Amino acid sequence: MITIALAKGRLADKAVELLEQCGIVADELKTPSRKLVLKDNSGVFSFILVKPTDVPTYVEYGVADIGVCGKDTLLEEGRNIYELLDLQFAKCRLCLAGYKDKDLSDIDTLRVATKYENVTREYFYKKQRNIEIIKLSGSIELGPVIGLSDIILDIVESGKTLAENDLSVLEVIAEISARLIVNKVSLKTKADIIRPLVACLKEVIVRSND
Ligand code: PRP
Repeated sequence: MITIALAKGRLADKAVELLEQCGIVADELKTPSRKLVLKDNSGVFSFILVKPTDVPTYVEYGVADIGVCGKDTLLEEGRNIYELLDLQFAKCRLCLAGYKDKDLSDIDTLRVATKYENVTREYFYKKQRNIEIIKLSGSIELGPVIGLSDIILDIVESGKTLAENDLSVLEVIAEISARLIVNKVSLKTKADIIRPLVACLKEVIVRSND
């Protein structure tokens, strides 16, 4: 039995579509329910539906063999897993953003609003810049707008949220997309199932880019 951790929501829907193209069909996943552990029709695969930021945790601890989550989550969580495949959906960018014309150079301690505390700490540590991280869980763009922070570090997809709040991208930190991650032990012990699945997903992605 292979357990796959899926991030509840948009990421899961797209991942399920991809898996179907490799013959893993799970009617249970398409039927609305509150069940957290579901099985595919063959009974070989089971799925756990978890919070997006928790996907790498389940995979590192081996309670899930495989997971699908955003690269942003991997950068933030820094878990001990293998990242095997760029699934090339849910594309966005991890950015610093703020007011384009605001001079940040003479601010001694820059206040940064973000969900990504670790990424932020590491980024500014490398720049040797003093910061105060203001941890938020959503609507990060509000930070500069209401004067809670000087800038934000957040994902930008269409750029609409920034534009509608008169904010701009100041720097792109990373290109983000959904990734297939695998538990290190599972890749060895369940290679007979995981390797062909990865190969099939790779093919599906290449074909969809043609
Ligand atoms: C994300 C992100 C931005 C927004 C960017 O938020 O935190 O707020 O999407 O998208 P855009 O560039 O297309 O406007 P999400 O929708 O996940 O909600 P949240 O604010 O609750 O985190």
